[in-house]
Amino acid sequence: GATAGGTTKDAKVPTVILTIGMAGSGKTTFLQRLNSHLRTQKHVPYVLNLDPAVNKLPFGANIDIRDTIDYKQVMKDYTLGPNGAILTSLNLFTTKFDQVLEFVDKRAAELDYVIVDTPGQIEIFTWSASGAIITDSLAATYPTVLAYIIDTPRTAGPATFMSNMLYACSILYKTKLPFILVFNKTDVTPHDFAVEWMSDFEAFQRALMQDTSYMSSLMNSMSLVLDEFYENLNYCGLSAVTGAGFDDFMAQVAKARDEYYAEY
Ligand code: GTP
Repeated sequence: GATAGGTTKDAKVPTVILTIGMAGSGKTTFLQRLNSHLRTQKHVPYVLNLDPAVNKLPFGANIDIRDTIDYKQVMKDYTLGPNGAILTSLNLFTTKFDQVLEFVDKRAAELDYVIVDTPGQIEIFTWSASGAIITDSLAATYPTVLAYIIDTPRTAGPATFMSNMLYACSILYKTKLPFILVFNKTDVTPHDFAVEWMSDFEAFQRALMQDTSYMSSLMNSMSLVLDEFYENLNYCGLSAVTGAGFDDFMAQVAKARDEYYAEY
């Protein structure tokens, strides 16, 4: 198999794009668009759906958690609420993740990308043992980048922006994987404000001050922490609905991967 440690340079190794984001940020729409974008570029993606609660997936998945786990049944069997059932479904699926990797491995030589959808509630994936096991086993096998999908129109206020960036920062330091901030829905709100705030923390502090009418020393320190965070990541703006920005996204994926996995 193709392992991160023992791969020769000329063997084809797919890149994993692990998609995470807050509920409603547009993960599913993003993956649908990414899937068709890759296909028109003659890059064959392998699609993994890890969201047990998605009603209708607008694209075909090669492996779908829903094929083996019925999350409504899990709710009944374990008398759980929706979030508990999603987490338990993910736990059940994780026990079989070695088989998933075997399926991917069989196809790996002909694949360019493995694209992964995660549960709608981000913390179910990012703060669970199963999420960590799945992330780590993918990253140990293939170069893996995280695409953190942001609802740009809903992140345009400075305080919300800071919360969202701190959350992204916590995931970056938890996974230690190459990371791309994906500003989605730029057809509604362009992400220029974010580019400005990320490149000029004084501009961001001014916006914060106007917004909240005070600048606590905590906020001040946090914007400095974030300034360092921005140096370690890649970002792009796109619209999952119109398809604008996907070429740039793929360039960011290649850049993030190559910087991190120098041996590939
Ligand atoms: P969960 O199913 O809760 O995980 O949500 P999700 O993150 O998968 O989001 P989904 O793809 O269902 O999109 C949420 C809403 O945002 C839908 O109404 C989409 O049509 C809308 N949306 C997604 N991407 C875009 C975009 O680029 N532009 C606009 N205008 N709307 C978008």
